[in-house]
Amino acid sequence: EQIPATLIPGDGIGPEIMDSVTAVLTAAQAPFVWESHKAGLAGIEEYDTPLPQNTLESIRKTGLALKGPLTTPVGGGFKSINVTLRQEFGLYANVRPVKTLIPEGRFSDIDLVVVRENLEGFYAAQEHYLPADGYKEGIATCTGYTTRLESQRIVKFAFDYAMANGRKKVTIVHKANILKKLSGLFLEEARKVAKTYAGKVDFDERIVDACAMQLVINPWNYDVIVTTNLFGDILSDLASGLVGGLGLAPGSNIGTDAAIFEAVHGSAPDIAGKNTANPLALLMAATLMLRHVKHENTAKRIEIAIERVIKDRKALTPDIGGTASTRDMEQALIHFLD
Ligand code: NAI
Ligand code: MG
Repeated sequence: EQIPATLIPGDGIGPEIMDSVTAVLTAAQAPFVWESHKAGLAGIEEYDTPLPQNTLESIRKTGLALKGPLTTPVGGGFKSINVTLRQEFGLYANVRPVKTLIPEGRFSDIDLVVVRENLEGFYAAQEHYLPADGYKEGIATCTGYTTRLESQRIVKFAFDYAMANGRKKVTIVHKANILKKLSGLFLEEARKVAKTYAGKVDFDERIVDACAMQLVINPWNYDVIVTTNLFGDILSDLASGLVGGLGLAPGSNIGTDAAIFEAVHGSAPDIAGKNTANPLALLMAATLMLRHVKHENTAKRIEIAIERVIKDRKALTPDIGGTASTRDMEQALIHFLD
């Protein structure tokens, strides 16, 4: 089987880690046939836009993309590329699995998933200064919104994900005690959806601030967390901090017609071009992509190779306590593939 997919190497460390990731995927005989396209700074340099038309068309066609980190230019009035991609392709679910890979980290045996609503809330808000004539504005406003349909859709996604991945519990995270309408409506719909899964997947509820505290004290209490955009952004970064930080955190953005997979970290300009960046987060994103197209077996083989490289310790990059290069790690991953 051959599956056409869009490849966006990205900026900064993007191209070097993407090279390693595609080398491992090829060695593992992953089914993807890549269409490579530019975005971010690379897009601006060649096409004067961070999201060139041919990149968008490729994703529209393949419905599947592996994306390296993109540098969002400061100034110049460019809109966030990631937000634009989510809106353009209706990528309503942001899924971030958080799993302990390096046992001697802050915690061991953490295995949870944060499902974040990706299209609404404060990140889709209209912001204004008041008074509107602009002279010495004294007030800033932000009008975020929640819809019933989107709330149902994301919570249903979380429960279906739980069922498909053998997970036992979904925790609905909200702030309905204060944001009675914006967050209250989400909670109301979430409860309705949860009832339809009674007997199949358990559910409970947490207020977001309490959830943040408990994630730090007792992260093992969580399985799947589902929440709105802003809360999900913060909690998913918090959760990745529990297992060693951004260098090990993959994420996916899922819609009905397209899905984009990426590492959570950015383009790391401070170490770009030095052959020291850790390719594991992007490789883990690629395993999520393999599962998405139901190539469970290839995903599992790559995950086992990752575990072996970490256990062996000889080919770890500096960010996780080793001295190996990106290429060394790539070669070790290929060596450990069954
Ligand atoms: P960053 O994640 O690029 O870097 C933060 C720190 O982590 C740096 O010290 C970096 O060297 C280190 N780091 C990150 N990834 C690493 C890896 N794979 N291996 C080893 N070390 C790694 O975050 P920062 O510096 O805030 O952002 C840099 C650029 O990336 C900005 O232009 C930002 O807009 C963009 N960015 C893009 C994202 C995306 O496309 N998904 C996400 C986050 C930031
Ligand atoms: Mg974030």
